[in-house]
Amino acid sequence: MIGIDAIDFTTSRYFIEMSDLAVARGVPVEKYVDGLHQRQMSVAPPNEDAVTLGYAAASKILDDTSDIGLFIFATESSIDQSKSAGTFLLDVLQLPRSCITYEIKQACFSGTAALFAAYNYVAMNKNKRALVVASDIARYTIHSPGEATQGCGAVAMIISNDPKVLSIDPTYGSYSTNTYDFYRPNCQSEAIVDGALSAKMYLTALKESFKEFSVKSGASISDIDYFCYHTPFCKMAIKAHDNLVGDRTSAMADSLVYNSVIGNSYSASLYISLLSLLHNSQNDISGRRIGMFSYGSGCVGQYFCCKPQKNYFDFIKKSDFIALRERISIKEYEAVHYHNSPKYHETSGSLSLETLTSQRKYVLLSKYSKP
Ligand code: CAA
Repeated sequence: MIGIDAIDFTTSRYFIEMSDLAVARGVPVEKYVDGLHQRQMSVAPPNEDAVTLGYAAASKILDDTSDIGLFIFATESSIDQSKSAGTFLLDVLQLPRSCITYEIKQACFSGTAALFAAYNYVAMNKNKRALVVASDIARYTIHSPGEATQGCGAVAMIISNDPKVLSIDPTYGSYSTNTYDFYRPNCQSEAIVDGALSAKMYLTALKESFKEFSVKSGASISDIDYFCYHTPFCKMAIKAHDNLVGDRTSAMADSLVYNSVIGNSYSASLYISLLSLLHNSQNDISGRRIGMFSYGSGCVGQYFCCKPQKNYFDFIKKSDFIALRERISIKEYEAVHYHNSPKYHETSGSLSLETLTSQRKYVLLSKYSKP
């Protein structure tokens, strides 16, 4: 049996309240809090990128690294077009010289692509484990409809035989088509998005990939006990569940606890939902089937299932780092957003960003990072 032997996540140490953003944009607070079902949004400071977030998540789960033969970094916020994000971390994570690393991209789907590539690797290499990091910073234009659906986060997972946390069922259903619902050409630092089309494609990919999953596995909705979805904003996951199951929140509410205060973390989002369910469910859900829907614009969708192992809760640490984040003002958030662009001077005034540094043990990993 192959699956997740260890898993943990992180986000930045700063956030804004969605109510503050609504006031600043002249939008009713209810639109963000009820309409999008988001309460807070994580904001990455200028010296934190997808690599530093990835490091923070990975360092939480790594113990002895000698049997890690593969390290896949999934991201759509990478910092180099050639050198893969994982290479920046090979030494600091003390991975063996024999460990291969590469980067995977297909929008928010890449975390799942990495998970299944790692699954295949450990199936062929029984004495090895694989490290998967999914890490992203969601960026849309300020004042655009997408602005309220930003956020950031990273998940790290170790994939192995005889996993302690979850087993993965390799049977999946998938759906892919060429669409321009959300994309970011090389010249852009912010995504271009057609919101209505993206929601439509998300729901189409869910319907079609579940249909294929059901045919291949013989499973129907009633065979699934809990549900996790890629969560660009919580209302999207609630709508997805309503479409799939005909029910608004039962069996998936616990999966939204973290995403509702982090916002979108693209490739990490589905696995933050999974951790949210595992950490926040009042029940022991070992042996119960969890349905997982992964979606990446452009677009690829995949439906698959996993099952928590007996005593899984002994191997997942719930920490209070989300509650310890610091609230920043909308003015500070805007200055952070523009810190790399000429607009910074127009928007920041005399505001200094020096205090908004991440206090992580390890920052400024590459020459690209800006203090
Ligand atoms: N009180 C309560 N609710 C209100 C309200 C009020 N005063 N005003 C509006 N609302 C509700 C609306 O009715 C709507 O809810 P329903 O969809 O349930 O009807 C909700 O608030 C949002 O309102 P709008 O649709 O008018 O919002 P918008 O057009 O301004 O922006 C968005 C919404 C299109 C999702 C935009 O945030 C966006 O483009 N986000 C980025 C794209 C995205 O996340 N797409 C998701 C699918 S693609 C994907 O999943 C990949 C990925 O990660 C990007």
